[in-house]
Amino acid sequence: MAGSDVAGSGTAGSGTAGSGATPSRSAAARARPPGAPLWYARPAGRGWSCAPAPADAREFHAALSDYAPTRLVELPSLAAELGVRRVFVKDESSRFGLPAFKALGASWALHRVLAERAAASAADGQGTGRRVAAQSGTGIGGGSETRAGVGIGAAAGEPVTFVTATDGNHGRAVARIARLLGQRAHVFVSQGVHPEAVVAIAAEGARVTRVAGPYDQAVREASETAGAAAVPETAPAAVAAGPAGGDGGANATGGANAAGGVGPDCGMAGAVGVGGGASRSVLVQDSGRPGYERIPGWIVEGYSTLFTEIDAQLSAAGADGPDLVAVPVGVGSLAQAAVTHYRARPVDGAASRNPPAGAAACALLAVEPEAAACVLESLLQGERASIETGHTAMAGLNCGTPSSLAWPLLRDGLDAAVAITEAESARAARDLAALGVSSGPCGAASLAGVRAALTGEGAADRRTALAIGPLATLVLLNTEGAAANPHGPQLGT
Ligand SMILES: Cc1ncc(COP(=O)(O)O)c(C=O)c1O
Repeated sequence: MAGSDVAGSGTAGSGTAGSGATPSRSAAARARPPGAPLWYARPAGRGWSCAPAPADAREFHAALSDYAPTRLVELPSLAAELGVRRVFVKDESSRFGLPAFKALGASWALHRVLAERAAASAADGQGTGRRVAAQSGTGIGGGSETRAGVGIGAAAGEPVTFVTATDGNHGRAVARIARLLGQRAHVFVSQGVHPEAVVAIAAEGARVTRVAGPYDQAVREASETAGAAAVPETAPAAVAAGPAGGDGGANATGGANAAGGVGPDCGMAGAVGVGGGASRSVLVQDSGRPGYERIPGWIVEGYSTLFTEIDAQLSAAGADGPDLVAVPVGVGSLAQAAVTHYRARPVDGAASRNPPAGAAACALLAVEPEAAACVLESLLQGERASIETGHTAMAGLNCGTPSSLAWPLLRDGLDAAVAITEAESARAARDLAALGVSSGPCGAASLAGVRAALTGEGAADRRTALAIGPLATLVLLNTEGAAANPHGPQLGT
């Protein structure tokens, strides 16, 4: 296991080089009527549809020994306040023993990476050697047994180093799962992440590098360290066809992955892909950019479990809808999973669909901090844009560039986006705590966003745009508990 050296790195700055997005000013700088939130609506989003998520990730999670759906809590006092029939909070304050939803994506992505490396090694004729995948042995929470013999594919032999950038929760999830699988993690933490969240990542045995800059900069540094920046993603079949290299790759922690001159089909030292014969470092980022979308796609698939749980829980509660789902947004990968779920075309023979075929589609509301509203800004501009981010207690949402993988789905499938203030998030966290729901600043953003959308100056127009009437059912995603990002309840900064 790698040591936990909390080291400084890099210099301050918030350039957007490499993101492939258009640089822009902050959305918060835009003019708006006094008392009205920063807001974007496109009701046509409800009429758009896309391919459904594959079922594999849900089946994978369900088979883990320590899997349990997180609770869906009904809060009638919020329904009364918001002028709707029912309000439910999907409470991700404890998911696989961690205080945020992120392990859903990280577990599926790490599983896929290790499984593909193992398959490629076997195809290389090395299947009996150092990197044979053992499709057994662990659940996420460290339990030693799995249902039906299914676990995360733990690779034997030399560990892989999973490299990632984080504004808190994703890095902790990657570190936890890497540790449970006997692998390594190297996590680049952007500025503004709560010190306790940084300590929690290091406590998982990860190497932690502090980045003196915003999230986009941490992503760049992690990519450079993993050697992935210049290397296209490697299809496993192509890797398997390459030479049987594998141990010559420099470990990411040395920062010496020589990407230059190594094509994706070579499968040699320095090529960072998911297949065998590649470097021992793999970038596991929850945000896509042109040329790096495969692993982010697995992370998004992993999030689908959360929405499938909501379907079953609403149905068990005898609830219609939902008519609106509020999603806290950083790079937009969770919102991409929401769009994929709620805008999925019906599949022939599928057992269930929520909302049922023929029912009105639900509205999807993206919620971002005013200090980092990159998806709202992109929607307003009609193209994926990068913004300069500011300070926010909503650290997990403090992202300057939407994921390239998410962007087309957000553009076409979201109904609305709203930006909230620090004070609104802090108030929502306090109110949820009083109602028995532990919520960090990002998790509480859903409630703050729904309040901003459905109440206050101009609310009638926003309600019309969202098609929310007195009989509506709302679902708010509480994506983190207070322990994930332990700002005090008074804190608005
Ligand atoms: C608690 C929490 N909520 C929401 C998000 C937003 O997810 P995404 O970056 O996929 O938009 C994050 C991202 O880190 C998070 O940590």
